[in-house]
Amino acid sequence: MTDVIKFEKQGAIGVITIDSPPANAISFAVKKGLGDSFQACIDDDSCKGIVVTGGGRMFVAGADISEFGKPTPEGVPELENIIRNFELSPKPVVAALNGFALGGGMELAMGCHYRLIAPTAQVGQPEVNLGFIPGGGGTQRLPRLVGVEKALDMIVGGNPISAQDALESGAVDEIVEADLVARAVEFAEQIADSGEAPRQTGSLTEKISNVDPQIFEDWRKKIAPKSRNMESPFECINTVEASTKMDIVEGLKHEREVFDRLMMRDEAKSMRHMFFAEREVAKIPDIPKDTAAQDIKKAAIIGSGTMGGGIAMNFANAGIPVVVVDVAQDALDAGLDKVKNNYAGSVSRGRINQDKMDQCMRLISGTTDYADLADVDIVIEAVFEDMGLKKKIFAELDKVCKPEAILASNTSTLDINEIATATSRPDKVCGTHFFSPANVMKLLENVRTDKSSKETLATIMKLAKTIRKTGVLVGVGDGFVGNRMLHISARIAEFMVEEGAMPSQVDKVIYGFGFPMGPFAMNDLAGVDVRFLIREEQKKLYGDRRQSVIIDRLYETGRYGQKTNAGWYDYAEGSRKGEPSQLVEDLIVKTSAELGFERREFSDEEILETYIFAMINTGAKVLEEGLAVRSSDIDVIWHYGYGFPRYWGGPMFYADLVGLPKVYEKVCELNEKYGDWVEPSNLLKSLAAEGKGFKDYSPS
Ligand SMILES: NC(=O)c1ccc[n+]([C@@H]2O[C@H](COP(=O)([O-])OP(=O)(O)OC[C@H]3O[C@@H](n4cnc5c(N)ncnc54)[C@H](O)[C@@H]3O)[C@@H](O)[C@H]2O)c1
Repeated sequence: MTDVIKFEKQGAIGVITIDSPPANAISFAVKKGLGDSFQACIDDDSCKGIVVTGGGRMFVAGADISEFGKPTPEGVPELENIIRNFELSPKPVVAALNGFALGGGMELAMGCHYRLIAPTAQVGQPEVNLGFIPGGGGTQRLPRLVGVEKALDMIVGGNPISAQDALESGAVDEIVEADLVARAVEFAEQIADSGEAPRQTGSLTEKISNVDPQIFEDWRKKIAPKSRNMESPFECINTVEASTKMDIVEGLKHEREVFDRLMMRDEAKSMRHMFFAEREVAKIPDIPKDTAAQDIKKAAIIGSGTMGGGIAMNFANAGIPVVVVDVAQDALDAGLDKVKNNYAGSVSRGRINQDKMDQCMRLISGTTDYADLADVDIVIEAVFEDMGLKKKIFAELDKVCKPEAILASNTSTLDINEIATATSRPDKVCGTHFFSPANVMKLLENVRTDKSSKETLATIMKLAKTIRKTGVLVGVGDGFVGNRMLHISARIAEFMVEEGAMPSQVDKVIYGFGFPMGPFAMNDLAGVDVRFLIREEQKKLYGDRRQSVIIDRLYETGRYGQKTNAGWYDYAEGSRKGEPSQLVEDLIVKTSAELGFERREFSDEEILETYIFAMINTGAKVLEEGLAVRSSDIDVIWHYGYGFPRYWGGPMFYADLVGLPKVYEKVCELNEKYGDWVEPSNLLKSLAAEGKGFKDYSPS
């Protein structure tokens, strides 16, 4: 038929195998082949039934996303029509789900009259993760098979379910332990021989009749906080609700209209961008894919404080033994106790079981003696942010660790090139910048120094995957990529407060945009004192620029954030929800007067543009300076490190959506007001002038 579809007759049954590695994605070629081979079976009088299965380990992982938005070539049928033809076939069609059946794959399976599944296969409708709804009948057929509640769970949640779950809920008819295709052929023969009409999913009504509409209302309420500014999760609910009110033909038509509309929205474009960005991030242009990575069989962490403990947990969770070092036994004991309590919390919340906790704790050992590090493959240093101390430790590590061991620093701000000079192996020195809490946050900025070898970098990029982080390679620079951008925007937010806005207004706007919290709430979480100290350090670098005075004034009051139940906001004992503070507002008004500002109104739009465009400009500088490999890496950093909403695609993609000329113009205005903090990036300027976007820019 086509290269990607194999067809053979097994007795009176036609077996169609989708064989388009690696994912058997439904491409134009697959659709063409499916349509043709199906028609051949229908036209062949000796063919009594049809089995559809997948080659390799997948059934079908979904539509071919790389073909989205491209016009369908002549003669290629649309997937929804192929599925409907399967459903209306007078000859029984049986899906043999050998592996994942996701998205369009699951929809294809539901167009078949019966579904048999391998025990390890899974089924699901993950479209919502890409900003749209199932468009091949999933919203109409799944509720007919599994009922409304389960369908909502799968379609709005976007997570696949196991074969066993699929059987129990009615999504499939049988789990086949032995030869799946042989059983499917036998199944098709039995139905054909029985003379009964094949069961059409679209004609089932039992599970969609008399459904209480309150279910849908409850779901809308449930998802509202996490679905700010999004349409796709709500449309998932609406279209499933439509399945309870419309017949299959009407329902499919409605689903298609909604699908087509959502596909054109920025939400879907942004989420698609993120999907590809996450795959690109592992590719480093000058480090070939086959660069040998070192085996990491044992790790060491220096410092058992806030970060060290969390980093150690990542290794233990991945089954890698890890030694934690601290200066004194009491500091070490306190650090390891925190790790233990952290695991115990996960056990009590049901996230892991006691066995897993015990297993992890057995993998974590503590020592105060550097000599115990002779056999580790990597060391991650997480001691106080002090260059002298770090250099002393690296010199010591260089002595005690085996020559091939990688020495990494978790520093947030220090120059790792300088740290590397303390060793005789600068090629083995790099940064691994974890985010707090280190056992939870997905982002890992892997830092390349001037001398880090390709093997070292390949090893830490692979390590990120092993410990289930999203590793992004960045260069050495103040705050690397994420924090450099954050610190500039956070500072400008403080300037806005000094000039007339209030922290609660700024936070409301940034939360409304889709961040988990605004910069002031985030500062209360991370510590006002921490920000004050970082800022003091930065004054040494940027002493001639405007500095926010309000942070000094707040620091002087001893309001350090959540840890003191008072920061930019007031916190009731034990609560993490801040309430605006009269004291802070008075302090702000007083500081404005002290600085000679006549306070003025800030519109929400001005706040948003100022905050985000300053961030974008800094991102453009990072790119220009070669500190990020590509603009989409910055988007990944901002999503996983700071919660930039996926449906805006990260700051650089968002800039492209807004249009760079508008961003540049605003950045020039900000530059007038805030000086060098927002010095317009040359890259931004030239891309804007050429009518291009960051997506068109590739460094090197
Ligand atoms: N806290 C964060 O949010 C965060 C985020 C990213 C990176 N970082 C970076 O991680 C590093 C650690 O930060 P933290 O917040 O975990 O600090 P912390 O103060 O909580 O912990 C530091 C630990 O290092 C130990 N230590 C000091 N000297 C030592 C030595 N010579 N040998 C062994 N242990 C020693 C201390 O006893 C303490 O337990 C810093 O470089 C910081 O910039 C912190």
